Amino acid sequence: MSDKPSYLGLLNAIAVAEGRAHAYLTAWAETTKSDDVRAVLRKIAAREGEHAMTFGRRINELGYDVRPGDDDDAAAIALVTSDRSDLDKMETLKLHRLDRGDKPDIFDDFFKDHSIDIATGALLGRYIAEERDSAQLFKQCHALLKQAERGSSVDDDRLASLERKVDALCGTVDQLCAAVTATDSGSNGSRTKARTK
Ligand SMILES: [Fe+2]
Repeated sequence: MSDKPSYLGLLNAIAVAEGRAHAYLTAWAETTKSDDVRAVLRKIAAREGEHAMTFGRRINELGYDVRPGDDDDAAAIALVTSDRSDLDKMETLKLHRLDRGDKPDIFDDFFKDHSIDIATGALLGRYIAEERDSAQLFKQCHALLKQAERGSSVDDDRLASLERKVDALCGTVDQLCAAVTATDSGSNGSRTKARTK
């Protein structure tokens, strides 16, 4: 039987995925115009980067090396550095759906492998707790972005309504001006006639 830990693939997948997330969240944080979004992104990016390094270190301690994944990071980097909105980026990456509430998530099965050693188990436990907290932060951030979007569309509707009212008012003022001018020229004519009598 091989001495190779059965959970080595899991550790490698975590190290690679966390490194990718750190890269694109950091790039996004440098692009966003929102200080609030940047604060969330930097907090989670720091966790992701630390997870990538710590799991890489654990793999090394177990006598192996991290094997890079096949995923192409370019698409995620291109998306987060584009001029699309933060809300659009978050929904495209589905980050707001990571939080599963009380429902089962991908982490529930991690400890089904009873051969996990103590040091790796401790690392996985902290990792899972931090990932779930990050998922909740994304969900809250998404809700605020959604709220802001709804607020701005309400503002746009109000602005359009005000513009319509101002246009109608301008039309009425024009009509009034035209009526006054017509009346004025009519009465001037009368006065002129009166004076010539
Ligand atoms: Fe992560």
